[in-house]
Amino acid sequence: MSTYLVTGGAGFIGSHLVKLLHGQGHHVVVVDNLRQGHREAVPSGIELVAADLADRAALDAVFARHKFDALFHFAALSLVGESMREPLRYCRENLGNAMNLAEAAVAGNCLRFVLSSTAALFNPPQDGSAIAADALPDPQNAYGDSKLLIERALSWADQAHGLRFAALRYFNAAGCDADGALGEDHDPETHLIPLTIDATLGRRPPLSVFGTDYPTRDGTAIRDYIHVDDLAAAHLAVLEPLERGSCRYNLGTGRGTTVQEIIDSVQRVSGRPVPVVAAPRRAGDPAVLVASSERFQKDTGWTPRWGELDDLVATAWHWREKHPGGYAG
Ligand code: UFG
Repeated sequence: MSTYLVTGGAGFIGSHLVKLLHGQGHHVVVVDNLRQGHREAVPSGIELVAADLADRAALDAVFARHKFDALFHFAALSLVGESMREPLRYCRENLGNAMNLAEAAVAGNCLRFVLSSTAALFNPPQDGSAIAADALPDPQNAYGDSKLLIERALSWADQAHGLRFAALRYFNAAGCDADGALGEDHDPETHLIPLTIDATLGRRPPLSVFGTDYPTRDGTAIRDYIHVDDLAAAHLAVLEPLERGSCRYNLGTGRGTTVQEIIDSVQRVSGRPVPVVAAPRRAGDPAVLVASSERFQKDTGWTPRWGELDDLVATAWHWREKHPGGYAG
């Protein structure tokens, strides 16, 4: 049994990792300011410290109480569009909080740091091909840059303090816990799958399809949707290569899916028509964003278990159908 710290463990991806670790009998402590996270997403029996990562004293107290084998850092601002309107807040909060956490971790002798990084730190290739793990970062938005700055700072901390880090650069986290205990609940919600489901259930206006003139097979943008449970499993799998040294990996399925194909999938899974309206492209959205996880698979043996798009969409559908008000409902 190991002891792990999960920041943002009450949020979408973090809560799925907490459930996995808890289910395997590990001791887990969650730090979450509950601004975006949900207390209900953390299983009872798990210590939830409702603190902000800007609060260094609160972090020091957590590291003083526990000897962690590793920490997983999810808590962050993560909306690309918002980051272009408030770039200074994104850089200050994401970088500042991560540095506070890393300093407290070094002081508390926790020298394994798994960072929730992002595909948004790449400038996607014009030909739409999958982004390889050794592609050079070239962020096109403040959110991606804030994560790249964290990665760079952590590599200095590795040299100076032996703080080993794994940067997991995700593509589009989607779906939810197959048991139906956890789901995706953001406020405001901006993600495609929950918005498509809510439009189908009549809980929101018709889905706006942002861009129908992209150079793709049906004119809508292509993304790499990876099931959140596969992502959670990848966080555990990376601990092994992390023992050999700091590392950076892309995490996706290698499969590109258009917005229209998501709409079609929701229609098949629900058996209902999806109301949609065409809308202009969203600022900052690339046409295609697909990842190659080849290197991660080779180094860890991890493979995405959720191969079928409809199976992934079905998990999201069932949770949102049962939770009209999200966790609060
Ligand atoms: N989309 C619509 N209508 C909507 C919402 C989204 O057409 O109402 C489209 C978007 O334009 C995009 C696709 O659906 O083409 C996916 O959009 P999301 O908002 O669901 O996700 P993003 O690809 O914008 O961003 C997500 C995470 C980021 C992360 C990025 C990495 O939110 O944190 O994936 O790929 F950086």
